[in-house]
Amino acid sequence: MNKYFYKFKKSYANDIVLCNDFFKDKITEMTNRRHTSIRWHYWDPVTNEVANTLNSQLELFNDMADCNLIIHHVNLFVCKEGVIGGLHIDSASWPRRCSINLPLSGCEDSEMIWVREDQYPVGQVDQRNGARAGFPVGANINDDTEWDVVETCNLGRTTLIKTDSWHTIDNRKNTVPRVTLAFRLLGNPEYDWVYEQLDKKGLLEIA
Ligand SMILES: [Fe+2]
Repeated sequence: MNKYFYKFKKSYANDIVLCNDFFKDKITEMTNRRHTSIRWHYWDPVTNEVANTLNSQLELFNDMADCNLIIHHVNLFVCKEGVIGGLHIDSASWPRRCSINLPLSGCEDSEMIWVREDQYPVGQVDQRNGARAGFPVGANINDDTEWDVVETCNLGRTTLIKTDSWHTIDNRKNTVPRVTLAFRLLGNPEYDWVYEQLDKKGLLEIA
């Protein structure tokens, strides 16, 4: 059992083509926004577009529905190239427990890293480069040389990730922005429970 991530067996290649095409103009606008945004990553909600148009066309959506996993909202994420992001817990005031991420572009050289869960008290959060993620923080959380990294995951594949433990995206090797579609589930279920639902249907690679 992997504590932090599971990769899906399927590549969802058609979904990736479909989403890149459907969101083409939006992705261009969003990636251009990195020249003005002070944030290392940012997102726009695309829940309605997915719910009204893309949903049943997406193999990933249908696989999730088959596992009784209902989508609550979907965000289109852009992560700037050449930087490492701030350490955080997603939506720290009400932690988002997990996310299913479909890689759209620039994800092959991108890595997610997790640090030891008890290295920093929950309630601290890294505000580096203006990233918003919950409560105010202490000082050393901003220094990545002090982080006690316990897991890393390449983000080139569709992945279930745990987002309520300290983590960030390392995009320092990237020469282009990383673009992903993040599916968040109704009821904010626990990572372990979502893993079980997906695993029952044989959708995940064995860690
Ligand atoms: Fe996150």
